[in-house]
Amino acid sequence: MNLKKRLLDFVDVRLGVRDLLAQNLTKYLLPRNINAWYTLGAVLLTLFMIQVATGILLLIYYVPNPDEAFQSVERIMNEIPFGWLIRNLHAIGANVIVIALLLHMLSVLFMASYKRPRELTWLSGFLIFNLALGLCLTGYLLPWSQLSFWATTVATDAAGAIPVLGDEIVRFLRGGSMVNEATLGRFFALHVMGMPLLLGGLVGFHLFCVRRAGISRPPFGPTYQPREIPDHFEHEEHPGGIPFFPNYVIKDLAVICFFLAFLLAIVFFAPTLLSPESAFVPADPFVTPPHIKPEWYFLWAYQTLKIFPSELIGLGVQGAFMTFLALLPFIDRGPERRPAMRPIFVTSFFLTLFVFVAISIWGHFS
Ligand code: HEM
Repeated sequence: MNLKKRLLDFVDVRLGVRDLLAQNLTKYLLPRNINAWYTLGAVLLTLFMIQVATGILLLIYYVPNPDEAFQSVERIMNEIPFGWLIRNLHAIGANVIVIALLLHMLSVLFMASYKRPRELTWLSGFLIFNLALGLCLTGYLLPWSQLSFWATTVATDAAGAIPVLGDEIVRFLRGGSMVNEATLGRFFALHVMGMPLLLGGLVGFHLFCVRRAGISRPPFGPTYQPREIPDHFEHEEHPGGIPFFPNYVIKDLAVICFFLAFLLAIVFFAPTLLSPESAFVPADPFVTPPHIKPEWYFLWAYQTLKIFPSELIGLGVQGAFMTFLALLPFIDRGPERRPAMRPIFVTSFFLTLFVFVAISIWGHFS
């Protein structure tokens, strides 16, 4: 006990940790009417840490070479103690992260938390979202199965529809005219180093923005009033609010447990839920499997390319939509955040969601 106090004193004198902890835990006050949607950021942090830990363990036995990649993954699954657990946690965890990312983004949209002064929080989050999808795409190739090989062929092919530069971009992505050893090399480098480093930096910036602006007040209840944010705005305070620690941390932990239970349920009871037969056959560039579909979160993009008369129009529509989403805080600028007072926004929100789900289901069955 005495040693603990002395250690704490030593660090405290040099780094001021007691003050730092108080400011960020017990004296960090959150709005009284805060709801469970605000736990999703903590859920994402936890899930990302699991990805990093399991990813490092997979790296010990994975071999990034077309002649050995598939067998090395088979070995992890069948021979290495608990290899199956680590690999399933990583592969299925990626899907659970996409679910959590979508829910976090949708809740921020619905409550209009992206508005001034949180434009940079939104923008960094939007980049994180795209980078996370990039990590999913590059990771998908690594097992070098028929599914990996052909899904990557289809995904990189789409860039070919871009006028003038299309073919060059496809060659650049693949490191040649076809998906081959060079593609595996660059996807591996991006997946294990380039993208995670960038993602780590962006998440740090995102959290800095969250703390700098302060958590937004949920726009519900009789006492909520929309307000213009003054130019000299420094930090949204919540006097009389609830402490982050222990009160909200308990809520965070409950939702984190829920997501972990969901992840473990799939890992233990339905590990092949998202793996068609082609995931269990090594890549063969000369045999195209009958049904090659991208993962569920790319189905909307895959199907929009097929709906329009040319892939170029499809790409244009996707690009326009993503640009609109990225710039939303600069387009939708009024101070009103209450969903009931924003009927046009809320109607478009649910309509767009419905269209996305419908197009994805169509893509799945087409
Ligand atoms: C690795 C992914 C991410 C992590 C770890 C993360 C983490 C967090 C955390 C801890 C918070 C504060 C608590 C909360 O509201 O949940 C937060 C808030 C926020 N996030 Fe994220 N986030 C991620 C991705 C995203 C994405 C994809 C977007 C949107 C495109 C986004 C936009 C926002 C916004 C606007 C807030 C402010 C909410 C408010 O103050 O009410 N984040 N994020």
